[in-house]
Amino acid sequence: MLSAESAALVRATLPAVAGALDEITARFYATMFHDRPELLDGMFNRGNQASGAQRRALAGSIAGFASALLEDPTARPDALLSRIAHKHAAVGVTDDQYTIVHKYLFGAIAEVLGDAVTPEVAAAWDEVYWLMAGALISREALLYQDAGVQPGGIWRPWTVVERRAETPDVVSFVLRPADGEPAPRARAGQYVSVRVRLPDGVHQLRQYSLSCAPGGELRRITVKRVTGDAGGPDGEVSTLLHESVGEGDELLLSAPFGDVFLDDRADSAAPLALVSAGIGCTPMIAVLAHLAALGSTRPVLVLHADRSPGEHALRADTHDLAGRLPGARTVFWYERPGPEEPDARTGPMELSGIELPDGVVVFLCGPLPFMREARDRLLRAGVPARRIRYEVFGPDLWLPDTAACSAPRP
Ligand SMILES: Cc1cc2nc3c(=O)[nH]c(=O)nc-3n(C[C@H](O)[C@H](O)[C@H](O)COP(=O)(O)OP(=O)(O)OC[C@H]3O[C@@H](n4cnc5c(N)ncnc54)[C@H](O)[C@@H]3O)c2cc1C
Ligand code: HEM
Repeated sequence: MLSAESAALVRATLPAVAGALDEITARFYATMFHDRPELLDGMFNRGNQASGAQRRALAGSIAGFASALLEDPTARPDALLSRIAHKHAAVGVTDDQYTIVHKYLFGAIAEVLGDAVTPEVAAAWDEVYWLMAGALISREALLYQDAGVQPGGIWRPWTVVERRAETPDVVSFVLRPADGEPAPRARAGQYVSVRVRLPDGVHQLRQYSLSCAPGGELRRITVKRVTGDAGGPDGEVSTLLHESVGEGDELLLSAPFGDVFLDDRADSAAPLALVSAGIGCTPMIAVLAHLAALGSTRPVLVLHADRSPGEHALRADTHDLAGRLPGARTVFWYERPGPEEPDARTGPMELSGIELPDGVVVFLCGPLPFMREARDRLLRAGVPARRIRYEVFGPDLWLPDTAACSAPRP
């Protein structure tokens, strides 16, 4: 619980700290990676460092947590902490590393804010940091325990047993554990990290949603090749996976994590809407495959937007799985429709024409602008925020948004 004295100091300095967080986090990462280069080799994502997305996510989460504490000194904002803890577990964060992050973060705060950081102010923010760290550490310990692994010991070798081209820029890899042990338990909608060594010798991790039912001995990931068309360089890991990984190769995969999954207990009968765009279809396929494996009869609306039928990854799987679910209905939108999908609609997804069943639980995944638009529409249609679960294929930049933050995550 945040003490009353610290709360007063945090309240007084929050605007100054929040206003300087971008500079603070930039300096924090620069000094930490300078002194501890091993963290950038094999833990942090250097694409997210280059784009500043990780910096913004870290800053937003600290500001969000501090604001929540000021409203209620015992607050532990669940959506915020859960999202971070799952990502931390998927990259193997351990409790001793919180001391390293603390050292560089507080060094950066002192450098950027200078004399404004009196010993009392530093102590108040210290309290916020360790309350947040403590909440994350205990969640991460539970996640590791639940996954049956030692803290940080998330990696296992897997063999690629099949590589399949899905579209011109998407491939799937079907994997089997290479160590002969059973595949770890997963939940429909979760992701794994894949750890690779890049041509310059640096190790990098990226997350990929499982695009298969969570049971059985095989797992599948489906990877879109990221090109530098938008002005940046080609995506490092997706390019490597596309260009140099094939059948018989080994990949290091983490245990599965992720807080957006189909909870069979919490809402086993609720109607579902799976709303996706582009490669955001992957967790939806896992949900559909899981429902099909269960022989589910619940109503499922599968809504997907893509550039064209030929670029719609896992389109045949979607039809096949929906065909096995008596309660399922698919609606597709394409920028460039084609004869393969005569019933598809043209243009971006338009949710206003779709009737959503009462009590619907929505899973949302796709580019951030798409998700913002879809979420707004869903809220306006009366779907409560707590029934909209979204997965972000990058650091969650919605976390600073208090509406998203305060929405309880089931
Ligand atoms: C939970 C989760 C699930 C995911 N599931 C999937 C999935 O199922 N399928 C899938 O395909 N992807 C998925 N992703 C995305 C995936 O993890 C990777 O982000 C994606 O493959 C791109 O990684 P990359 O290494 O190829 O690109 P990166 O090298 O990380 O580059 C990403 C972007 O940053 C730009 N960039 C990088 N460096 C610079 C620089 N120096 N200057 C300017 N711009 C730069 C690149 O041009 C590119 O646009 C998921 C992500 C998350 C978090
Ligand atoms: C209180 C302390 C911390 C806070 C508030 C924090 C916050 C965050 C946030 C908000 C994210 C993004 C989550 C998302 O993907 O949406 C993240 C990711 C991450 N964190 Fe932390 N974190 C903390 C401590 C640590 C520690 C101790 C480490 C280990 C050195 C660490 C390593 C990472 C890594 C590697 C990622 C993924 C980065 C990426 O993929 O770009 N974090 N953290």
